[in-house]
Amino acid sequence: NFNSMTETLDIKITKADQTRLTVTDFSQLPFGKVFTDHMFTADYEDGEWKNLQVLPYGPILMSPAISALHYGQAIFEGLKAYRQPDGRISVFRADKNFERFNKSAARMSMPSIPEDIFMQGLATLIQADEKWVPSQEDYALYIRPVMFATDPYLGVKASDTYKFALLTTPTGPYYSNALKVKIETEYTRADDGGVGYAKTAGNYARSLYPFEEAKKEGFDQLIWTDASTHEFIEEAGTANLIFVINGKLVTPSVRSTVLDGVTRDTIIKLAKKAGVEVEERRVSVQEIIAGIKDGSLTEAFAAGTAATVTHIGEIGYQGELYTLTDPATRSISNGIAKKLNDIRYGLTPDEFGWNWVL
Ligand code: COI
Repeated sequence: NFNSMTETLDIKITKADQTRLTVTDFSQLPFGKVFTDHMFTADYEDGEWKNLQVLPYGPILMSPAISALHYGQAIFEGLKAYRQPDGRISVFRADKNFERFNKSAARMSMPSIPEDIFMQGLATLIQADEKWVPSQEDYALYIRPVMFATDPYLGVKASDTYKFALLTTPTGPYYSNALKVKIETEYTRADDGGVGYAKTAGNYARSLYPFEEAKKEGFDQLIWTDASTHEFIEEAGTANLIFVINGKLVTPSVRSTVLDGVTRDTIIKLAKKAGVEVEERRVSVQEIIAGIKDGSLTEAFAAGTAATVTHIGEIGYQGELYTLTDPATRSISNGIAKKLNDIRYGLTPDEFGWNWVL
């Protein structure tokens, strides 16, 4: 269902000699550690994308001077493919991830990737690794598109050459339990005029130290606040944040410091369809804390492709710990999460046309 699928690109396919499927334990799949037999790669040189190929997954030989390593021109995406009841495979909202990938590329002065290369590369790779798509409940094939600068040059400038790759990894949800999160008011993830809305490596790099500090205090994840006042909630870094306040779905609006999440957008559309009122606006920390105290905030969750819908169980803020409602009782988020999964796994009609069935 993409325009780009009408003309078939020349993609070279080199099959792996052996499959690692037989030595992979599908009951033990930590996020992002087990890769399938193949990957897709393409190279950008002389102003065009070349060498489209599916090849055995494995190391890539590179100069230690490549600019991605030194100056951080690197972007990525995350999307998932799901096993359908009839055994076919469906990729969820690939068009949204494709669009966002090119938005990230533009912000980082990188070339855009044409839709036909992204989509046909994806389809060819998934077909080669078709047996790797899990069929257990809550499991999927996580797809990681990535692009990075490959000029072996230490001058600070946008690279002239790049590599694009698609990696695939069978996986369950990123988080296994309700989260204990800390509202971060010292460090920041993103600032106005910066790159917060782009899915670029540096956004994740700068989050690691504050995250490690929070882990020492027993937290699973941070809630980032705005860089200038620390009074407004932004996102979680690995996911967007959604709350239920007075029966309405409330989520920080996307802006230059917040990633425009595909799962966030999907949940908003599903909630509206189900008749739940949705507010996308600035959300203050005070409103969240007051809502927990007076009981008007009944649900809170992280929403992302990797994270899926993960309940927030406890929130730490300025040395106090606030315990939220029992996740089992959260009818709005549990209802939307179920609907979302039913669509992804082909258990209910896909009214929005989100599934690309291969
Ligand atoms: C995703 O949800 O796909 C992400 O990219 C989050 C990731 C950093 C774990």
